[in-house]
Amino acid sequence: MGKASKDKRVSCVRLSTQFSYSCAQPCRCSPCRYAIAQDIYYRKAKEEGWRARSAFKLLQIDQEFNIFHGVKRVVDLCAAPGSWSQVLSRNLYVPAKQSPDCKEGDLPLIVAIDLQPMAPIEGVIQVQGDITNARTAEVVIRHFDGCKADLVVCDGAPDVTGLHDMDEFVQSQLILAALTIVTHVLKVGGKFVAKIFRGKDTSLLYCQLKLFFSQVTFAKPKSSRNSSIEAFAVCENYSPPEGFKEEDLYHLLEKVGTPSGANDLDCRSGWLEGPNKVYIPFLACGDLSGYDSDRSYPLPSTEGGSYRSLDPVQPPIAPPYKTALEMKKASSHGASADAAKPPAES
Ligand SMILES: C[S@@+](CC[C@H](N)C(=O)[O-])C[C@H]1O[C@@H](n2cnc3c(N)ncnc32)[C@H](O)[C@@H]1O
Repeated sequence: MGKASKDKRVSCVRLSTQFSYSCAQPCRCSPCRYAIAQDIYYRKAKEEGWRARSAFKLLQIDQEFNIFHGVKRVVDLCAAPGSWSQVLSRNLYVPAKQSPDCKEGDLPLIVAIDLQPMAPIEGVIQVQGDITNARTAEVVIRHFDGCKADLVVCDGAPDVTGLHDMDEFVQSQLILAALTIVTHVLKVGGKFVAKIFRGKDTSLLYCQLKLFFSQVTFAKPKSSRNSSIEAFAVCENYSPPEGFKEEDLYHLLEKVGTPSGANDLDCRSGWLEGPNKVYIPFLACGDLSGYDSDRSYPLPSTEGGSYRSLDPVQPPIAPPYKTALEMKKASSHGASADAAKPPAES
């Protein structure tokens, strides 16, 4: 599910409780539309031409950590509908292309991957595939043609169930897949930013990431709702353990979860409590006196008329719910055709 549609659902659910509406998602009723329009980051995204409000999260992470500095090659994992790719294109590719000194071969390389197809973005190479699949990773690696990336970002999110343990587990599988790609494509000294869900295994994840990066900070951009367990791991200075081989990744990660650090492969974070507790650097980022993503803001007043909501910048071109809608439509047509038929003779 794309983030944009998830955001609408959040607003919708909030409104549903408030007004006792039973709104199906994606909701089109006018009170819900009104509430969505009041989501300041959603509205700002449309005004500034971003495909999703997530763009602000990456921009705010960059404000704090300067992650784009010196970046020439970048991988955007789980990129659809593409607002992070847009941020990368506008901050890296477009300025380089407009620079009079820039030669064709010097242009930044941006490779974006997602299960879903995305509409084109200037300077972004798109790969449609599953990041947990080794073949997708190979395609990404091939695009780098032996060179290494300076930055890997991953905003991957599975369809959220609301069962936090389950969501956190599936999310951790995406991070694991992203880390596998990182170990193949990221240059030593490079950076990795990944969406995480804060939960009981957060300490374990932190320790696992620390194996590969000298600096790991968990960050919460101002545009990410406080009510959401989402945060971002900002990992700096990629420095894998000495003698590290990519095929050893899983074994190494499992070892972090075991008190003996040896052959007990029951990977868990319980032992990181009490005297072994790890303290994770956690930072709120973005303009802290800026817009609050958990608040609704009144719509701006316009001269002589009510505020006109802008259309989404780029609706998903093949959203996963499309098939469901088509099936629903087909079945309701079938039902009405059946209703028009004379009753079958028994
Ligand atoms: C929150 S959205 C990403 C939003 C994006 N960063 C943007 O700014 O537009 C999460 C994306 O993760 C993708 N995703 C989930 N599991 C994936 C997987 N196994 N492989 C590739 N993409 C995946 C979904 O298709 C979805 O588009």
